[in-house]
Amino acid sequence: MQNSQRPILVTGGAGFIGSNFVLQWLATEGTPVVNLDKLTYAGNPNNLASLASNNAYTLVQGDICDRGLVDRLLRQHRPRAIVHFAAESHVDRSILGPEEFLRTNIHGTFVLLEAARQHHASLEGEERSGFRFLHVSTDEVYGTLAPDEAAFHEDTPYAPNSPYAASKAASDHLVRAWTHTYGLPTLVTNCSNNYGPYQFPEKLLPLMVTHALQGKPLPVYGDGQQVRDWLYVADHCSAIRAVLEKGRVGETYNVGGNNQRSNLEVVHALCSLLDELVPASQFAPHASLVTMVKDRPGHDRRYAIDARKIEAEIGWQPEESFETGLRKTVEWYLANSAWVDNVTSGAYQQWMQKNYAGRAETNGASSAEAAAANAAQTAARGAK
Ligand code: NAD
Ligand code: DAU
Repeated sequence: MQNSQRPILVTGGAGFIGSNFVLQWLATEGTPVVNLDKLTYAGNPNNLASLASNNAYTLVQGDICDRGLVDRLLRQHRPRAIVHFAAESHVDRSILGPEEFLRTNIHGTFVLLEAARQHHASLEGEERSGFRFLHVSTDEVYGTLAPDEAAFHEDTPYAPNSPYAASKAASDHLVRAWTHTYGLPTLVTNCSNNYGPYQFPEKLLPLMVTHALQGKPLPVYGDGQQVRDWLYVADHCSAIRAVLEKGRVGETYNVGGNNQRSNLEVVHALCSLLDELVPASQFAPHASLVTMVKDRPGHDRRYAIDARKIEAEIGWQPEESFETGLRKTVEWYLANSAWVDNVTSGAYQQWMQKNYAGRAETNGASSAEAAAANAAQTAARGAK
């Protein structure tokens, strides 16, 4: 079999970005995908229901921390690449319960790296030279930016602030070390905030869409002036495919949408779109549902990605603007209310209670302290 026709092993392929990636991969590349996913609360095999009769797709329910299982999958499928998405990914959950983040994000990545190292050493010829371990990471490893500070580039020093960001930073360092010390052929992508179909409604955009449609309050943390750089998920997936194909071994590529927006701007854009798309809603104008609530502890003020390296070296650019991506996303949630109903019962309600019950409504002023703390951190970075 030609090496390019060999399967890829995807971890976390039943989550938000992973399932978009698997669907895009099979629609474009078409070569086999083995998806190793623990199916935590965030993993949903229904996202991939359309692949039920596709022989090129295999789902294996299991934990990336299970070395025996990972070894068996590598022996059985001899993948040409591992594309590693699996992680605990929600910052608020990491604040309320960090342990699982350390287990999956750090130990799980270590297990995969060790298994990949052994697998790579057993390969020969084209199979060996073509093998890649692509680690999907985040811009949060770089910390927070002041309003006028230059965007994160690949050499920005790491300064993770949340337990989630620290666990992802640790995993990035492991990947780097496994390349430097053992010669494992790795690639790392650090991406900004994604949005799009199949995103679990604990994250900002899907939470706001589902709440707005039900006339529930739209809880904006602090003063709502935190800035994120939004990227439509299909564009992140195409970036990962491009890096896998053309990325230089041992390199990191930042991926972003060049769409910096404050949280309040995002929520208001979403409300206006809902007013347009659901004009008969009894909850219009939806912006009347916006409610300022107590801030996230340690809340990063601003993220922004400098994506010039991936553009120049690999020729990747996002296809969607924030406006086109937002419209596609909202239309998807409107057309998929059964998907939303399915994931927002039971444990989801408990999470909403746990995260939001203690966030009394504020006038948005509580963020002054957080902003000052962020400014101090930025100044400290500049002084180093
Ligand atoms: P997600 O939470 O939606 O999905 C995570 C997936 O990993 C789920 O399917 C879950 O079942 C699986 N998983 C969790 N623990 C596992 C374990 N121990 N073994 C096997 N599977 C396990 O996450 P996402 O938003 O799709 O993010 C995917 C990756 O992309 C993560 O590594 C995240 O850090 C990174 N990332 C996310 C964003 C974003 O905006 N969502 C941006 C940049 C980078
Ligand atoms: O930057 C990339 C990261 O983006 C990824 O690595 C993470 O996995 C992903 O979850 C995301 O992290 P954020 O913390 O930026 O995303 P979240 O959707 O949780 O929040 C986006 C912003 O919205 C953030 O400033 C917090 C704010 N927010 C969030 C929620 C859930 C609110 O104001 N209210 C909310 O209810």
